Amino acid sequence: MLNINLKGKKAFIAGIGDDQGFGWAIAKVLAEAGAEIIVGTWTPILKIFTQSLSSGKFDHSRQLSNGSKLEFLKVYPLDASFDKPEDVPEEIKENKRYKDVGGYTISEVSEAIGKDFGKIDIFVHSLANGPEVQKPLLETSRKGYLAALSSSSYSFVSLLAHLGPHMNSGGSALSLTYIASEKVIPGYGGGMSSAKAALESDTRTLAWEAGRKWNIRVNVISAGPLGSRAAKAIGFIEKMIDYAKANSPLAKELNAGEVGNVAAFLASPLASAITGTIIYVDNGMHSMGVAVDSPCLAK
Ligand SMILES: NC(=O)c1ccc[n+]([C@@H]2O[C@H](COP(=O)([O-])OP(=O)(O)OC[C@H]3O[C@@H](n4cnc5c(N)ncnc54)[C@H](O)[C@@H]3O)[C@@H](O)[C@H]2O)c1
Repeated sequence: MLNINLKGKKAFIAGIGDDQGFGWAIAKVLAEAGAEIIVGTWTPILKIFTQSLSSGKFDHSRQLSNGSKLEFLKVYPLDASFDKPEDVPEEIKENKRYKDVGGYTISEVSEAIGKDFGKIDIFVHSLANGPEVQKPLLETSRKGYLAALSSSSYSFVSLLAHLGPHMNSGGSALSLTYIASEKVIPGYGGGMSSAKAALESDTRTLAWEAGRKWNIRVNVISAGPLGSRAAKAIGFIEKMIDYAKANSPLAKELNAGEVGNVAAFLASPLASAITGTIIYVDNGMHSMGVAVDSPCLAK
């Protein structure tokens, strides 16, 4: 029987802060397939995440099909907006959520992973941030636009550049994008649509560069709407979920586990010839040219 076996593989997933998002769902499916999971959690929410984990808040979501619980080898603090300690501004260093936490820049976390675990096989980037996401692009400041690109796109380039030397040949890198990179989604502002377009373009260039340098595959999943914490902060996610259900070829809500399944496939040897590609896991929504529930069509 053909199955996905990731036994003996180690995965680093950057961008898990609770059990509601794609990062958690991907961790769970990779663990189901036998992989060991290492996590990078945004520095300001590290404490609440690790406390919730140890207090049993996520126990129900940690349940795996063989009766065991999803375990993490280690949870690192990570702020993917910074590459090295010198890049961290004084006010962030002194912030109460950062002050007592060290080693959260990309270079430090990557080095620590190499030291703690030797080589890893799978790198998943499941993080994004756009401080002005609620503003239309026409009202977005330069600072807000560049911050969206820095946290949501360059973070992938930098993480891959730093993790590459700590990855086994044949490894897989994956990030998550959204259809707003290609088509207008009013409300997904602040430069976030631009950040996703950059992430997708970089997927192709990085597939070439990391493929030749380390024999690592680089892909991106374009996921349909999910009511994660990040998506709720944008403000209209429930409407996007309803809209997708009403207008997609598959008239159902997307389950984060469906993205997890594709991530596991992409990480596995079954996808050994897939790189530089956008895979749509969105119930087919990307292929539609009209909204079938438009009142215009009912006339
Ligand atoms: N939810 C959706 O509808 C949707 C659709 C398509 C793609 N995506 C993408 O999926 C990925 C995961 O998002 P999600 O929706 O599952 O939400 P999520 O809230 O579970 O994940 C986003 C994570 O990014 C972390 N983060 C933000 N800034 C960071 C930084 N500077 N350094 C490190 N971590 C940082 C947050 O703490 C959070 O844990 C993102 O790339 C998002 O754009 C989401």
